[in-house]
Amino acid sequence: MDTQSPRRILVTSALPYANGHIHLGHLVEYIQTDIWVRFQKMRGNDCIYICADDTHGTPIMLRAQSEGITPEELVNAMHGEHLADFSGFLVDFDNYYSTNSEENKQLSQEVYLKHRESGHIEIKTIQQAFCPNDKIFLPDRYIRGTCPSCGAEDQYGDSCEKCSDTYAPTDLKDAACSLCGTKPVEKESEHHFFKLADFEDFLKEWTRSGALQDEMSNKLQEWFTDGLKSWDISRDGPYFGFEIPDAPGKYFYVWLDAPVGYMASTMNYCEKTGRSFDEYWRQDDLSEVYHFIGKDILYFHTLFWPAMLKGAGFRTPTAVYAHGFLTINGQKMSKSRGTFINARNYLKYLNPEYLRYYYAAKLSSRVDDIDLSMDDFILRVNSDLVGKVVNLASRTAGFVNKRFGGQLADSYPDDNGLYQTFLDAGEEIAQLYESRNYAKAMRRIMALADLANQYVEQNAPWVLAKEEGREQDLQNVCSISLNLFKVLIAYLKPVLPKLAEQVEGFLGIDPLTWTNLDTPLAAHGIKKFKHLVSRVDPKHVASLMDASKETTAAIPAPSSTSKNKENNKNKQKHMEEIGIEDFLKVDLRAALIEKAQSVEGADKLLQLTLDVGPMGKRNVFAGIKANYAPEDLEGRYAVLVANLKPRKMKFGLSEGMVLAAGDGKGLFLLGIDDGVTAGSKIK
Ligand code: MSP
Ligand code: ZN
Repeated sequence: MDTQSPRRILVTSALPYANGHIHLGHLVEYIQTDIWVRFQKMRGNDCIYICADDTHGTPIMLRAQSEGITPEELVNAMHGEHLADFSGFLVDFDNYYSTNSEENKQLSQEVYLKHRESGHIEIKTIQQAFCPNDKIFLPDRYIRGTCPSCGAEDQYGDSCEKCSDTYAPTDLKDAACSLCGTKPVEKESEHHFFKLADFEDFLKEWTRSGALQDEMSNKLQEWFTDGLKSWDISRDGPYFGFEIPDAPGKYFYVWLDAPVGYMASTMNYCEKTGRSFDEYWRQDDLSEVYHFIGKDILYFHTLFWPAMLKGAGFRTPTAVYAHGFLTINGQKMSKSRGTFINARNYLKYLNPEYLRYYYAAKLSSRVDDIDLSMDDFILRVNSDLVGKVVNLASRTAGFVNKRFGGQLADSYPDDNGLYQTFLDAGEEIAQLYESRNYAKAMRRIMALADLANQYVEQNAPWVLAKEEGREQDLQNVCSISLNLFKVLIAYLKPVLPKLAEQVEGFLGIDPLTWTNLDTPLAAHGIKKFKHLVSRVDPKHVASLMDASKETTAAIPAPSSTSKNKENNKNKQKHMEEIGIEDFLKVDLRAALIEKAQSVEGADKLLQLTLDVGPMGKRNVFAGIKANYAPEDLEGRYAVLVANLKPRKMKFGLSEGMVLAAGDGKGLFLLGIDDGVTAGSKIK
């Protein structure tokens, strides 16, 4: 592998919106990507990491307006903020640009014009909600009103949070502009559409070309079955964005010029470094192009984007890698729980490498969500990073410094093949990084660390140090430990670049790569050992959570809703009491399990078909597979929360929830004694 000629690789992360601060959710992606890029560089590949701020669109325009500044001023200020946050987390871009740039304007127009020339753009007149007071067309999120299905008040223009019905903003009862409260009117306007269906054959082929994870290809299949609809790529002014050529007053929708921003940032990088843009984006045989994204923006990156590139004569991505969403302590990030944690805030209390390591220990190549459980975070970092890795050096370096003037043994001692074992693991660990199976890579590296620690314990340098005539043995044991430590640090370097740099300084060695580990250090002087990483202090984690309750959300809602106000009222309460009237809102029913079956691709879930008597049949997914054979459940009764808002899961719609009790070993269904009938109300 390492004898092959270096690969030329371009890697991107999604461009963060310029109207909010970077938070720990975003960082899953930027850290995941940064690790991959650093790994590629350590392997000797010619890899660049390209990103930018996503600056256009209505929310940014309105946010600037409300702050009394121009959108340019807003996006310029945010650019610096974002970069500072990223560098605080050691996310190291080769270029971090802006979509509000000349290069991006040129390239966006080029993409559009090529499509127009080849007939892939159509113009249609559509009806849209318009605020006669603010004089702007209102995106769905900027309209609020009463849900036409369930009557819930103050709902968004596209869907109801109470009953999850979706509808057009015009269906809302008493719809109002969320900026000023005026009733919107319907207004006609001409829009430009990109005819996605023209690219169906190409997309079917591209999506099967190995460019996507399996889970994504399946999702794509659904979209193909639903049919590819034309995509509205224009917005009416006033709009912060690029004007469409020959269409005064019409602007490119932000999602058109955002991905083009990947190319624009590359172009800007090439202007600065003298490299060739065309070799990255216009030819497909000279470099590899990878996009790292979150699962929420799959559609844009796996349908629109490759089609846009294809039709405009650019190369298409080698692969698009999607990751899941971050939950904190098992739940969505929330301000009131103190789990909406900004990057900046985290850095005030905790070391960025803790988070990098923790994410690495959690990330796989799959699209699953990942959870940052604070207790687990403390445990994992302290036991792995500090307990297994850093300790190795701190238990042995002192002796070398004090007793041997910092000199390692003259020749590398017999270590029973340990060093070779460490080297032999290198290719496997590299493959795990390459395939983004970081969690497995971390486990593999920690298993090596265990071996090294066993070695140190068995040879107890602290005992040797007290015995007479054991000088050479002591120096040998310490030399072996520090050499093993060096290899561990090399393997961890994509994740922990700062620690690696400290260690390179302390060992007095050249930057560690994958290819310069073969020879162990001998007759080599090391520097004085300085403290490397401290244990996570749970008090600091608690302070961070507290501080995060006060910070404002990264992306403020267009208006403060009554719901937010209520959340704020409750935010200090530790355990919320509810009244009987609250409890009665939960509709519990006896449900007969008609059918129970495994769910492909989900090792914890069972799919249950429930008979709820007069309420009909329900499909529910339950995380109880560990303790039940599906067939044993059939014919039993379970307690169903019947009025829970249906949730769309990866595997289908879950229409309610069955109650179960957990004890850490799994979940056990709550049962109902004989005598009830399906659908009976539980009181
Ligand atoms: N501006 C668009 C992307 C345009 S790419 C041409 C956007 N921006 S974002 O700021 O909302 O998100 C940036 C990236 O962070 C996305 O890939 C998104 O999936 C990811 N994440 C944002 N919140 C996240 C979590 N809570 N968890 C994991 N990733 C998350 O989308
Ligand atoms: Zn208005």
